[in-house]
Amino acid sequence: AEKFQEKIDYVFKVVVIGDSAVGKTQILSRFTKNEFCFDSKSTIGVEFQTKTVTINGKLIKAQIWDTAGQERYRAVTSAYYRGALGAMLVYDITKRQTFDHVARWVEELRSHADGSIVIMLIGNKGDLVDQRVVQTEDAVEFAEDQGLFFSETSAFSGENVNSAFLKLLQEIN
Ligand code: GTP
Repeated sequence: AEKFQEKIDYVFKVVVIGDSAVGKTQILSRFTKNEFCFDSKSTIGVEFQTKTVTINGKLIKAQIWDTAGQERYRAVTSAYYRGALGAMLVYDITKRQTFDHVARWVEELRSHADGSIVIMLIGNKGDLVDQRVVQTEDAVEFAEDQGLFFSETSAFSGENVNSAFLKLLQEIN
């Protein structure tokens, strides 16, 4: 029997950035494989995963790049951002510092990525409600101010992960 091969309309490169341990790798594996791993190791260098989705009747292959948030691995910048059409900028709602650094990550995007890159700010670890230190309203205000989309997610429960990626891909389209 002949195998039906779907035809990809577009390939969109998306980068996932943010401080170390905010959950970048886990958000990505939740989206691409519907998996979560509690003892995930810190990313070394750059990895990417793909997932194909249909948006407005078009078949879109998202090629999503994950990098280490740790400074010592960050010699990658220009190659990493080259051709990226979207960015997921992740912080951890239970770690103030990761939100305080978001402005720096936006600056890095503005200086290394294409000016038209679509940016989605993500407050991750939404399942840890008792440990929340970053209020939703503060993030909403920052996002509006900077022209970013915003969502709170939990890679652990999966809440809002798909919708955040789909929204980002839709806005690129
Ligand atoms: P680097 O590779 O060092 O930049 O880190 P990262 O941002 O990729 O973080 P990673 O995905 O490795 O997750 C760091 C830790 O947070 C791991 O122990 C994860 O299991 C945990 N984690 C990630 N997302 C969530 C979440 O939504 N909820 C909870 N409770 N834990 C999470």
